[in-house]
Amino acid sequence: MFACAPGLPLPDGFLFGASTSAHQTEGGNTNSDWWQLEQHGAVAEPSGDAADSYHRWPVDIDLLAELGFTDYRFSIEWARIEPAPGCFSRAALAHYRRIVEYARERGMRPMVTLHHFTLPRWFAERGGWSAPDAVDRFARYVAATAPVIATDVEHVCTINEPNMVAALLPRVTAGGERPTGTGLPLPDPGLTRTLVEAHRAAVAAVRAISPTIRTGWSVASQGCQAVPGAEEVTAAYRHPREDVFLEAARQDDWIGVQAYTRTRIGPAGPLPVPEGAERTLTGWECYPDALGEALRHTAEVVGEVPIIVTENGIATADDRSRIAYTHRALDGLAEALADDLDIRGYFHWSALDTYEWGSFRPTFGLIAVEPETFLRVPKPSARWLGRIARSRTLPSAR
Ligand code: BGC
Repeated sequence: MFACAPGLPLPDGFLFGASTSAHQTEGGNTNSDWWQLEQHGAVAEPSGDAADSYHRWPVDIDLLAELGFTDYRFSIEWARIEPAPGCFSRAALAHYRRIVEYARERGMRPMVTLHHFTLPRWFAERGGWSAPDAVDRFARYVAATAPVIATDVEHVCTINEPNMVAALLPRVTAGGERPTGTGLPLPDPGLTRTLVEAHRAAVAAVRAISPTIRTGWSVASQGCQAVPGAEEVTAAYRHPREDVFLEAARQDDWIGVQAYTRTRIGPAGPLPVPEGAERTLTGWECYPDALGEALRHTAEVVGEVPIIVTENGIATADDRSRIAYTHRALDGLAEALADDLDIRGYFHWSALDTYEWGSFRPTFGLIAVEPETFLRVPKPSARWLGRIARSRTLPSAR
């Protein structure tokens, strides 16, 4: 269908993997704020057992390694590691340590995310990020993760998509679902400042654990595109929703780009998805060029900081569309590399069909998960992308 060669050889050390997050895959994350929200009916569907990866993680790692991937991004769950304030679970830490060690045994490099949307219930109940000691509590948790990350982990992501957290957390905790309207709500400025502070404190805590760990955070690209004449409006729209978080990464070891779609901006703000445009199962416009565009915008804002694509993918039930979308997204990546952007890795979202924050319907996975038995079934896209990972060469179609 698509020729994989000739293509662009990947730079040495380039990370090529797939991503997951704890709450979306583990199941039974009962001590987290999200579980609470789910039980109170704040979202359409609860996470339940999710993909049962809390027990089946070796199968996930085996599959990814066999498929040809060299890297695995996953998150560790604060609510499990610190189930009560100041009480750290040695068993939970040992659990995540086993994942790190097993990934290494299978020849995969683990990238560990410390916070991917979910918080311990006790932390949320004391005011979450608005509590006066929130940053210190987070830093104390990060310091406690030393047994998991001190060795064998080269990359740590402190906070996943802080811009989404700052924009959506106040709404989600108020009992609402993710807004379905156009564009992202304006992030709360106080929450933005706190998250930047929490990131800085976490970077320091990780560096104290091991100065060789490369630390960064991952920002959700808004894919902002100005229609002619709306350039200033677009810059003003984008700054608090994206750039302020990229600017905060200028002293980091890397910056994570997470790109899925675009937001077109007119003189009065975000515009609806163009009529007739193909949409994905999340309702977003199917727009694979989002990745190349996000890489270029990120490089403009962060300057010399190396970039890692920590998420990119599509929610679709048609796996051929996943291959077509990803192929085109990788073209954007290849072009950016050919233009000498310092890009160090690509992680597909997601390794598995996971719990998509309120519903299991939008399937982003390279690997299907059978809901009753949790059986994992790699899709053709998993084999296709795994072959690219193994070949260390990006296809180039343009
Ligand atoms: C998040 C993932 C999510 C994905 C698709 C990102 O916002 O990091 O948790 O599943 O995008 O919506």
